[in-house]
Amino acid sequence: MTTKTLVLAAAAAAVAAVVAGCATYTPPTQEETMAVIKASFKDRGIAKVDRLNQTELQRICSETHNNPPKDVRQRLEKQALAAVKFPTDGKWLGDYKKGERIAQTGVGLQWSDKPDTPAGGNCYACHQLSKAEISFGNIGPSLYNYGKLRGYSEDIKRYTWAKIWNTHAYNACSSMPRFGEAGILTEEQIRDVMALLLDPESPVNK
Ligand code: HEC
Repeated sequence: MTTKTLVLAAAAAAVAAVVAGCATYTPPTQEETMAVIKASFKDRGIAKVDRLNQTELQRICSETHNNPPKDVRQRLEKQALAAVKFPTDGKWLGDYKKGERIAQTGVGLQWSDKPDTPAGGNCYACHQLSKAEISFGNIGPSLYNYGKLRGYSEDIKRYTWAKIWNTHAYNACSSMPRFGEAGILTEEQIRDVMALLLDPESPVNK
């Protein structure tokens, strides 16, 4: 064998070894992956490791890359909608000025927060709302003129409340937080954010 053929033979052997390696590689199971992730975190303050536990919906969305089969998607949305808690006193709207502050702030639920620290909604991180605030994210659609465009009907209020309470009610694998369902915002805070979107006097509708 010449040096050249020796090198070629060695290269071929190396390729064969890699291919064989691929053939025998078994990816870690979901349980093994979760065990590694869970071992990397520990409880700290109010942030507990149980935050890593997925709901059935989150698991299905993860496993299907946010694209579950239509019947599964419909079942998940129906379940989410059925569990929405609508305002206990039938009052949909609070104070839009307080709502604006809630939409602006993203504090809360961090390990260094006290359990009773009110959380913010951080809506501007993903949505445009009032025209005065020029710094906003665009993962979500613009909500500027939300009430003006959608109207102020009972049906719109009901839809908007449910969407804020648990976004999965209308989009199974939505990336918007579940503000009511996950206990991020209180009922009173959701009323204030509702007013920001649906009070005709709110800067969102000017
Ligand atoms: C992490 C990003 C994110 C945050 C934070 C967020 N949203 Fe959303 N939101 C979205 C996305 C994405 C959509 C559109 C896709 C969908 O339906 O999930 C959406 C849709 C909506 C809709 C429906 C719009 C329509 O035209 O029907 C409303 C209403 C809404 N968001 C309100 C809010 C409010 C109020 C807050 C703050 C309390 C908020 N969102 C915070 C990402 C976010």
